[in-house]
Amino acid sequence: MTSNRRTFAIISHPDAGKTTLTEKLLLQGGAIHLAGEVKARGQARRARSDWMKIEQQRGISVTSSVMTFQKDGTVFNLLDTPGHEDFSEDTYRTLTAVDSAIMVIDAAKGIEPQTRKLFEVCRLRSVPIITFVNKVDREGRPLTEILDEVADALALDVSPQSAPLGMGGLFTGVLDFSNDTVAKPEGDSREYLGRREPLGELPDDLAEEIELVREGYPEFDLEAYRHGDLTPVFFGSALKNFGVEELIAALTRWAPPPRPQPAGERQIEPSFDEVTGFVFKVQANMDPQHRDRIAFMRMVSGTFKRGMKLTPSGLGKPIAVHSPILFFAQDREIADTAEAGDIIGIPNHGTLRVGDTLSERNDVRFTGLPNFAPEILRRVVLKDPTKTKQLRKALDDLSEEGVIQVFYPEIGGQWIVGVVGQLQLDVLVSRLEAEYKVEAALEMAPFATARWVKGSDAAMKTFADFNRANLAKDRDGDPVFMAKSPWDVNYQVEKNPDLAFSATKER
Ligand code: G4P
Repeated sequence: MTSNRRTFAIISHPDAGKTTLTEKLLLQGGAIHLAGEVKARGQARRARSDWMKIEQQRGISVTSSVMTFQKDGTVFNLLDTPGHEDFSEDTYRTLTAVDSAIMVIDAAKGIEPQTRKLFEVCRLRSVPIITFVNKVDREGRPLTEILDEVADALALDVSPQSAPLGMGGLFTGVLDFSNDTVAKPEGDSREYLGRREPLGELPDDLAEEIELVREGYPEFDLEAYRHGDLTPVFFGSALKNFGVEELIAALTRWAPPPRPQPAGERQIEPSFDEVTGFVFKVQANMDPQHRDRIAFMRMVSGTFKRGMKLTPSGLGKPIAVHSPILFFAQDREIADTAEAGDIIGIPNHGTLRVGDTLSERNDVRFTGLPNFAPEILRRVVLKDPTKTKQLRKALDDLSEEGVIQVFYPEIGGQWIVGVVGQLQLDVLVSRLEAEYKVEAALEMAPFATARWVKGSDAAMKTFADFNRANLAKDRDGDPVFMAKSPWDVNYQVEKNPDLAFSATKER
């Protein structure tokens, strides 16, 4: 049986139109609970998730939400990656939970830094990508220039599936190559409202440009796309609704159904007869009324039913999942069943951690969900020294969520936090204050990076005797070498051939 699930993310640089496209996909996809398509945009805006309100209060977008919608029997799970410029582990991990991605680029700006970074993460896992060139209702760059830039910058074959007839003031619609119809703008807003016309005569220069786009690039090849070697390209305008239908059709027809997931030597297929999944994100305090946490689990196999007992790999004893959450559009819905590809939210009080596997029989451990060695390390200095206990709790919590990593040095009382991107530090300080009532400052730490260290007891002891001042324990109590510089890391690696120094850690 082939699955009707399509689990994907949208990757883009801020301002390219990800939010606008998300809204349009939800509306087009007949998102459940998004009533009244008439007031579409305003409605969608107001209906934007409650979590976003929280984000606004925090003044920063830190959550990754999950939105589920369906169209013609296909169920789409859209995982939102944080849109800020700072790359974080959170973003990486969200991309480990998708089977494909839509890459949105601005027709006037082309490939921007954040797009490229996110693309590289997708490439690591050969995540197939559909490209959406947005904002063709405005002035943009020549079509072939955009296509060539995607091909060159990302070393990817591009296969255009549509083309705008003119851009900006000259825009008269989007030509769909698959059936030679033109989606036309209508009314004062010049939106696409469903009117399509057969392609007529075009002015010479436009006909020539379209010809170049149509004939000058590789044909679509499903296998090449699924391997991440080729990207079909659609042109459109999220704001004016052009190209959105085509994206949904392409996801349905081409995007891969749930993929198998590596678990050590094994591959767990979606058809495996046991419920398995992994936690790719933990979010605290999503509901201001309840200080609970939601662990986001990507289902890898089996059919989940409410009340089922699942064993988290980090815990060893089963937990009953009585009130799981499915993410139908904006509302949290209680899940009765979910299958491979779906995301379920599991409320818990800190038992579930990022990277945990959950399974019915506790016989599977998914791999490939690492923590990354932080590149920015800071000392946490309390303004009120009596709040040590609260600070410890907060740091433990936030490291569980994956917002930061925390290291407790063997010597000295000042704890070190590590992050991959600068923005995480701001988030840390504001959340410490808002949620834990802890005022703290972050000071430069004398360390540049960290490495997890492993080895025999004897080798570890010798190492510790010489490097006590540079040793710390992470949240799990695992030993970490705090290095003053990359050179310091290399030096220790050479000097200690019996020890393994690792820049990533899998739980
Ligand atoms: P992001 O999530 O990727 O950061 O982008 P977002 O959708 O918020 O879009 C960024 C800006 O670009 C918004 O304008 C949005 O209206 C505009 N935009 C998105 N898609 C299109 C498009 O197809 N054509 C045109 N012309 N504009 C588009 P804004 O003025 O910053 O915000 P707003 O006040 O309109 O919401």
